[in-house]
Amino acid sequence: RSFLPGGGHLSGHAVSANSVRPAAAVPAFSVEMPIPPVLQPFKADPDVDFYRLPIQPANVNVLPGLQTPALTFNGGFVGPTIRARTGRPVSLTVGNQLGEAANVHLHGGHVAAIHDGHPMDVIAPGGSRNYLYPNTQQGATLWYHDHSHHTEAEHVYYGMQGFYIIDDPAESGLNLPSGQYDVPIMLRDGLFGEDGSLLIGGDEPRNTILANGKPQPYFPVAARKYRLRLLNGALHREFFLNLGGATMYQIASDGGLLPAPVGRTEIRLSPAERTEIVVDFSRYPVGSSVVLGDSGSGPVIRFDITRTASDSSRIPSTLRALPALPTPTAVRDVRLLFDVSDPNNPLGTVNGNPFDPNRADVRIKRGTTEIWNVTNADPADFEVPHNFHMHLVQFRVLSRDGHAPDQDDLGRKDTVLIPPTKSIQVQATFGDHLGRYVYHCHYLEHSQMGMMAQMEIYS
Ligand code: C2O
Ligand code: CU
Repeated sequence: RSFLPGGGHLSGHAVSANSVRPAAAVPAFSVEMPIPPVLQPFKADPDVDFYRLPIQPANVNVLPGLQTPALTFNGGFVGPTIRARTGRPVSLTVGNQLGEAANVHLHGGHVAAIHDGHPMDVIAPGGSRNYLYPNTQQGATLWYHDHSHHTEAEHVYYGMQGFYIIDDPAESGLNLPSGQYDVPIMLRDGLFGEDGSLLIGGDEPRNTILANGKPQPYFPVAARKYRLRLLNGALHREFFLNLGGATMYQIASDGGLLPAPVGRTEIRLSPAERTEIVVDFSRYPVGSSVVLGDSGSGPVIRFDITRTASDSSRIPSTLRALPALPTPTAVRDVRLLFDVSDPNNPLGTVNGNPFDPNRADVRIKRGTTEIWNVTNADPADFEVPHNFHMHLVQFRVLSRDGHAPDQDDLGRKDTVLIPPTKSIQVQATFGDHLGRYVYHCHYLEHSQMGMMAQMEIYS
């Protein structure tokens, strides 16, 4: 079982967790949660915004009084947020200042294959390249992260991730909370050494829970409605989020708004999934607090209601309709499983094959619609969850183990959890882009071990 999370088989930056003693736990709610800065374009043409987003090593402050060596976008342990707009392309120039290859993938983005950050399409050390994101899709909370082959798990763990939010003019009439009341929150975990270093190897649990790069922070809010965009940026942890039983109104999932708000008391997020909720803090008196908790790990963020504020935003009863489901023309089976036939070299596989960049595992005609049955095919005693992520498209979950999907499967999804031995059925329409895109388990240590495959879209 040693290959299983946070298994000691990762190479690269892996540090033996035994060589450094773990850091003392930071008392909950002792630091304030920051909001990642919004990246400003260095140039705006009539129809394109141009940004620079350097990849650079940096020492960051995560635990009070300690420096953590990190791999970052622009120096942030959560990278800067890019706020794009539907219909307006973004050009991103990325210089790689690391001593090794790295790249950028726009998770959830509908982009041309050459701009997708394919695992083999990396930026050499000292090199630079340009990514073009057309933003032809509807408003959504996307994110960007490294996807360099065999180093994606370390790179993301060490900090190479940030929000990419597409604002959609078509949604402005909904009058959802906006501006300072629209807050992206990246959740993840980490194992820290007493010197502040992040440890990835070994079997010790990653028991420090971070929100926007700080351990169990507090966040001052006004007594009014907020839109919270939550992302699970962990390599291997599901969050089961609650507000102590109070209702949270979920308004969006991975690919944008739901048809209507859904009242939730607990929301499950597996790695890479996003959920957007509206929380009305006017239910709480000024001076009180409410804790966003994770039923697996404990408190995550304490929201302190510190002031009143006017509020003209609403939670509309309808949001945005989902597109009709076209008729599928193919059904495929996708099995995610480990190959442990060589215990010294366990492999992640899809349908028994570890990732091979030279092989197209499936060929799909552009514009067609398919149903994929995706199964966590490992033996039950592995007890390892997987999840399923496709590049290029958002899909819809049709069923889960032959039953209706969970509330966590609602809307336009690009990543869904598949617990041990379970399966899901999803339907996707492969739009206008051609070329090779990957699909994989988004427990990144699994995809790094090979649990990834390739689809080739042809015309
Ligand atoms: Cu979030 Cu293949 O990626
Ligand atoms: Cu997996």
